[in-house]
Amino acid sequence: MKAIVITEKGGPEVLKIKEVEKPIPRGNQVLIKVVAAGVNRSDVLSRSSKAYGETIADEIPGLEISGIVQAVGPDVERWKVGNRICALVAGGGYAAYKVLDERLCLPVPRALSFAEAAALPETIFTVWYNVFKTAKFKEGENFLVHGGTSGIGVMAIQMVLAMGGNAFATAGSAEKCKFCKDLGATMAINYKEEDFVELLKPVGIDVILDMTGGENTLKNLEILNTDGRLAYINAMNGLKSEINIMDMMRKRLQLTGSMLKPQTDDFKAELAWEIENLVWPLIEEEQIKPIIYKVFPLDKAADAHRLMESSQHIGKIILEV
Ligand SMILES: NC(=O)c1ccc[n+]([C@@H]2O[C@H](COP(=O)([O-])OP(=O)(O)OC[C@H]3O[C@@H](n4cnc5c(N)ncnc54)[C@H](OP(=O)(O)O)[C@@H]3O)[C@@H](O)[C@H]2O)c1
Repeated sequence: MKAIVITEKGGPEVLKIKEVEKPIPRGNQVLIKVVAAGVNRSDVLSRSSKAYGETIADEIPGLEISGIVQAVGPDVERWKVGNRICALVAGGGYAAYKVLDERLCLPVPRALSFAEAAALPETIFTVWYNVFKTAKFKEGENFLVHGGTSGIGVMAIQMVLAMGGNAFATAGSAEKCKFCKDLGATMAINYKEEDFVELLKPVGIDVILDMTGGENTLKNLEILNTDGRLAYINAMNGLKSEINIMDMMRKRLQLTGSMLKPQTDDFKAELAWEIENLVWPLIEEEQIKPIIYKVFPLDKAADAHRLMESSQHIGKIILEV
């Protein structure tokens, strides 16, 4: 079968299309004929950054897919050949076929195309776990996401609004800020021109989803309300930050963080069950929509990575197989 592989650590040009062995489903695994795969910043970091581990020779990137069940293992209970699914995978998505634990599959929502369905799993699982399960976001609270137009950001804004919260965002241009406001954000701040602390301290934020880290950590602690929660999913501005322990104690703040990819299938299966019951109905009601910026054919994965690295995009970048 055809797949995109990371041939070595480096720029987008190290992504090459290769012929690799087609996997066979065993036990509770399903074999998916992949129709579309989401591109995530994590794929770009796995390709380029030594901090994200050594590349195993010919590692196939890709954390989310949509497609059709082509075969099932002997212990599969739920899915049948021909079902349309989307799924969270721990690598291997940029390929013609993928095998995975059946519990990580979700049905493609009725009104969505395969490309749209492939845009859902990684962002929904991440936002659900960090904002709703760990930070326990509640109706009526104020929420801030840095990187408001990232794949994660546009999903976080929509999920918080659908759950009855108030969304605030930072983003790197006026166009991106307008997009966040059009999505329903109360305020979107161009962090390159404005000071988000000055604008958000008077408002007070209950939950922050942060992918920036670095010098934003101290600023985040400053704008959090009493009992505020700060959840990290990356630290693109720097892994080391200073914290003001007095701020934390005085306001009873909680700092958390998580990385989805290395977690066990059992952990992810529990999230999948919750998401299908609590988030999927909001997609069916069109309160949450996938936002796609551009679709590339699989063999143009390097161009998809170049676009992501340019940070011009708003929402998701998708590969069609
Ligand atoms: N821990 C987890 O489980 C998990 C899961 C999924 C994603 N993530 C993380 O969440 C973040 C968003 O992922 P995504 O796939 O949605 O990414 P994405 O669509 O590529 O968006 C990233 C955006 O972040 C903004 N940004 C802010 N500071 C940045 C910096 N120092 N370097 C580069 N971009 C910066 C950029 O927009 P501006 O123009 O606004 O700056 C950029 O477009 C990534 O950092 C990713 O690694 C973590």
